[in-house]
Amino acid sequence: MMKMDSLCFSAAWSEQDYREMQEQPTFSNWLLQVPTAAQVGMLSFQSVPPELQILRLAVLLDWRKQGLAQFMLEQLEIVAKSANVESLWLEVNSANKAATALYYKQGYQETGIRKNYFINPLGDALLLKKILKYDDKQAAQ
Ligand SMILES: CC(C)(COP(=O)(O)OP(=O)(O)OC[C@H]1O[C@@H](n2cnc3c(N)ncnc32)[C@H](O)[C@@H]1OP(=O)(O)O)[C@@H](O)C(=O)NCCC(=O)NCCS
Repeated sequence: MMKMDSLCFSAAWSEQDYREMQEQPTFSNWLLQVPTAAQVGMLSFQSVPPELQILRLAVLLDWRKQGLAQFMLEQLEIVAKSANVESLWLEVNSANKAATALYYKQGYQETGIRKNYFINPLGDALLLKKILKYDDKQAAQ
């Protein structure tokens, strides 16, 4: 996890960051493994229904633009719904065009902005949120 983190993020989480997060029962780390390859993607989140915060999402460089991040977000919604989560949210650097395009495509909407929040690389933090839709059958459960 930490190796992938350091390969994908300019401001990587330290071992201590991971250890502290993992001590919290609300925290989850997913590693995405594809057939014939090692782990190629990661997703970290904190679920405290009715909200879930996405903390980390990344795909190794050679595996990008193949729908894998989208796949992880879709799987996350399934798991979130089974935990009665109503909304997913995250902060993303406005300069991160790949990530912002991904989240907008997946139906996330801007709910706020924190000016000059990120230092490495410099940028505003966009607060993005997606309200999950439950169909009647799911809502009855
Ligand atoms: C952001 C990131 C996770 C996207 O992963 P990915 O697997 O390549 O994304 P997908 O293939 O699922 O792309 C889905 C959609 O996202 C958008 N997208 C993804 N990469 C993009 C890029 N480089 N430029 C513009 N849009 C992009 C597109 O809308 C794309 O849909 P399309 O293929 O129909 O155009 C990946 O670029 C990454 O790991 N970046 C470094 C870590 C990071 O910045 N994480 C996000 C902050 S939490």
